[in-house]
Amino acid sequence: MHSLPKGLKAQHHSAIAVSRALASPGIILSIFLLGVLLSLGFRKNLTDKDGHPIPPGPPLRYPFLPKYPERILHRWRNQYGPIFSVWMGNQLFVVLNDPVVARDLLVVNGSNFSSRHNYFMKNQTILQGGAITATPYNDTWRKHRRIANSILAPRAVEGYSATLDYEAHMLIKSLYHDTEKGAIPVNPARYAGRYVLNNMLSVTFGSRTGSVADPIIKRALPLGNEFMKLTGPWSNAVDFITPLQWLPTSTRSRGRALRKEFLEVYGTLINIVKDRMASGESVPDCLVKSLLECQDQEELSWTDMCLLTTAFATGGSHSTSGTIQWFLAFMPSHPEIQAKAHEELDRVLGRENWPTAEDEKRLPYIRAIIKEVLRCHSPFWMATPHASDRDFVYRGMYIPAKTVMMLNCYSLHHNEERYQDPFNFNPDRYLEDNLSSTESSKLADAMKRDHWAFGAGRRICPGMPIAEKEIFLAVSRLLWAFKIQPVAGEPPCLDEYEGYSGRTPLPFRVNLEPRHEQVHRVLGTRDEIPGSFELADEFLGH
Ligand code: HEM
Repeated sequence: MHSLPKGLKAQHHSAIAVSRALASPGIILSIFLLGVLLSLGFRKNLTDKDGHPIPPGPPLRYPFLPKYPERILHRWRNQYGPIFSVWMGNQLFVVLNDPVVARDLLVVNGSNFSSRHNYFMKNQTILQGGAITATPYNDTWRKHRRIANSILAPRAVEGYSATLDYEAHMLIKSLYHDTEKGAIPVNPARYAGRYVLNNMLSVTFGSRTGSVADPIIKRALPLGNEFMKLTGPWSNAVDFITPLQWLPTSTRSRGRALRKEFLEVYGTLINIVKDRMASGESVPDCLVKSLLECQDQEELSWTDMCLLTTAFATGGSHSTSGTIQWFLAFMPSHPEIQAKAHEELDRVLGRENWPTAEDEKRLPYIRAIIKEVLRCHSPFWMATPHASDRDFVYRGMYIPAKTVMMLNCYSLHHNEERYQDPFNFNPDRYLEDNLSSTESSKLADAMKRDHWAFGAGRRICPGMPIAEKEIFLAVSRLLWAFKIQPVAGEPPCLDEYEGYSGRTPLPFRVNLEPRHEQVHRVLGTRDEIPGSFELADEFLGH
């Protein structure tokens, strides 16, 4: 063997020493762990076969985002632009922050961006791919969605008009009496809660609170709250860190228990309607009656029936009652907006008659207030995420199959190009807008759409027509009947909120001062069938 020159010999020896050290098990393990940590902690910049990169985004991966994730997303939107990507554990999210981008992907390319991510808690454990909202984009979803559309379409909603009208009457009447005609302040949450709950029970089961079904309804109500707590789109580390899913955590047990309860409790409620129909009782038209009537023809399993009913009953309750509460939270600090609304109501309807659902088109300022409440305080800042089915390239950026597509309503609703002075509550911005939100969501020009609170594309909220009606009746009658005044020293908080997947204001009180003597007369035209506040409290999770 040739002997090496002196310098090379030294290098050779140190190289051997390094490779021996590297070969020691401790170092190998450390390097391996470092590699794992790096791959777990830092983003992976994927490219497709043609070299298109994924949209830009933050360098780290996240196990969850803290409360108020929309604020973090908005900062990232300012840094990375209209479309960015973020890794949650090993799941890629693409966040859509601009109206044109949102429409291009979720609406125009809806055939690829209409599925759902298989979240561990919501989709796998609790709903197991059911309840429409957790179903991937497939034939089962198409069938269940068609049934939901037929039951919730604007024409079908006409059938519930009398119920909605009656409950809006009772909402105002109970507020008028319980505040002793405006003499004492009130926390409106349980009133909004009871209003929406009675609507939901009538529309879903054909009976309201105060019925024989109350004990089982009492069991059903906390389930909606538990569902909201367990299923925020960014809040559960167990959704993003696979090994946590193998552990018997309390979160996992709660998810399993909730599924069992959903099936048992909603199954019992369906059976009550079934028994009433079988005994020849004339059950009012309701969602469960429609489901029972089409069960055989549509080949719906019992689990399908229970979960579809769960979707109708829980899907739209907190969102609708939350919107009414946000409206009431805004009003005390905006007397000038109330004055304009009162002027419109007095001019168009006078004081002899109060608004009915048919007056919506004649009251553009009230409609503008509602749109502005939904813009400034959407119940879901992140809608419900969609997922992609196939690889896609958009504006030179690669979006792999099975990416979660997040509609960032917070940034969409605070887009300076679309909304002048976006952090200001100003209904005037909607005065030229003659469309309902259902109509507006179909506009070809994304920059003209009123807001994105109901989502977008093929998964857009099917409950929009009924939610719009409920909110209009509540808001227009509250304004017709009352001046909504602050309680001294207790301004409602407009920045913080409760909830992870749906948002409602922190508890607050307002003074409701009757505006004129006709309020008493109009409220006296109908009697209240007793309904339960105790159930409204359960419903709100108080
Ligand atoms: C203010 C009230 C409401 C708001 C803000 C709201 C919002 C939403 C949003 C953002 C989505 C997800 C849309 C998407 O994936 O792009 C959704 C889906 C859904 N909503 Fe609503 N919603 C409301 C009321 C209702 C009502 C009253 C019902 C039923 C009676 C309802 C039933 C549903 C169902 C079943 C889905 C799932 C649709 C699917 O995955 O195909 N919602 N809603």
